[in-house]
Amino acid sequence: MKIRTGTLTQLKEKGTRFSCLTSYDALTAGIFDQAGIEVLLVGDSAGNVVLGYDTTVPVTLDQMLHFGKAVKEATSNALVVVDMPFGSYEISSDQALASAIRIMKETGADAVKLEGARADAVKRVVDAGIPVMGHLGFTPQSVNQLSGFKVQGRGDSAKALIEDAKNLEAAGAFAIVLEMIPAKLARDLSQELSIPTIGIGAGAGCDGQILVWTDFAGLSDRSPKFAKKYLDLRAELSRAANSYLEDVRSGRFPGEEHSFS
Ligand code: KIV
Repeated sequence: MKIRTGTLTQLKEKGTRFSCLTSYDALTAGIFDQAGIEVLLVGDSAGNVVLGYDTTVPVTLDQMLHFGKAVKEATSNALVVVDMPFGSYEISSDQALASAIRIMKETGADAVKLEGARADAVKRVVDAGIPVMGHLGFTPQSVNQLSGFKVQGRGDSAKALIEDAKNLEAAGAFAIVLEMIPAKLARDLSQELSIPTIGIGAGAGCDGQILVWTDFAGLSDRSPKFAKKYLDLRAELSRAANSYLEDVRSGRFPGEEHSFS
């Protein structure tokens, strides 16, 4: 069954939690889609995990289009959301709309995501018929302003975060990612909003959860405290590469079965 933005609202209403993973390529997208993961986010975390950057700041719209197309091609059911990268929506709502239109036309994505308390940009894009996912709490594109990877929304700043979330909902966002905020704040917000919340480092009280796929699969060399490793893919790949190297050196590979007569 094709997952639409409305499906997520229905899941929230029924009290059924949903799962989201990032994906940047056709191979993983096909696997996660067939497993039934409801949302595939083509995150600008591609900057860190695929392109080797320290932050998501350098990621360009053209790079996101490239990753978005690959994921969409391989996906039948999951809702495909493409991140709007830093610099593609902050200047004006016009700029946000132009970038969102490019994403929708050139990747075939189902929705876009943008970071921060930008209700005006969200409204402009939604009014043009493009579903928008918000992203509050720790917003990686603002890492330089936030002075590093820190939990957000503690103490007095919780009030502003609640206000921002309500404004995004009023602007028409269909869901909001809550990244690295206290679990109680995320639970309260999830109860207060009628749109679904998607947590990453925000505890168990959100309507859905998201993980960066390389953290979930244990491929990253370092993964954050909030990520659970469902596999040790880094160790597996490393073992496989060593075996291959030894087989080639010793002449065990290729064998008869891999050769043509
Ligand atoms: O870019 C990304 O992968 C994200 C998730 C961490 C939510 O925005």
